[in-house]
Amino acid sequence: MQQLVPEGYLFTDHFRVDATDAYWPAASLNFFEASKDYGELVGSFRVLPMPEETLAAGLWVSSEHRRKGIGTQLVRNVIGRYGNHDIRLKVNPFEDKPVTLHALIRFYAGLGFLIDKSYKAAPVVMVRRAW
Ligand SMILES: CC(C)(COP(=O)(O)OP(=O)(O)OC[C@H]1O[C@@H](n2cnc3c(N)ncnc32)[C@H](O)[C@@H]1OP(=O)(O)O)[C@@H](O)C(=O)NCCC(=O)NCCS
Repeated sequence: MQQLVPEGYLFTDHFRVDATDAYWPAASLNFFEASKDYGELVGSFRVLPMPEETLAAGLWVSSEHRRKGIGTQLVRNVIGRYGNHDIRLKVNPFEDKPVTLHALIRFYAGLGFLIDKSYKAAPVVMVRRAW
């Protein structure tokens, strides 16, 4: 796992309501984003903070910018902000399957997520317990 913040990328987050959001339409979501110096959006991850736990979904990094630690940094930024609550997500590779389910489970496991066995149906649910 990379330990350094990827160079040449800007990491930000902001709340936004998006009625067309595929995961939680019309909810107030905290979008964690990565962009190139010149402003191109190259990665995002969104969270829905709730009183008991935080839900996360839609981790994505643009194909030309993968394997540089950006996905890891986006997850770390969410943990940094919300790690005092449980963080729950579905492990659901995008349809073009750039990464296998198995690789994604290992990716999240390396960041402290465990499979939540109380969910028996696909997709796999993982949770990172509050610290
Ligand atoms: C999953 C995704 C966000 C990872 O983003 P990324 O910026 O490439 O991830 P990182 O560079 O931080 O990867 C960290 C580690 O995860 C593992 N990993 C990442 N992508 C992998 C792949 N395609 N196959 C195997 N392992 C992979 C590797 O161990 C990697 O470390 P390494 O590059 O030193 O070997 C990116 O592949 C993506 O956008 N996929 C399409 C969207 C998707 O399926 N999202 C899942 C939603 S649950």
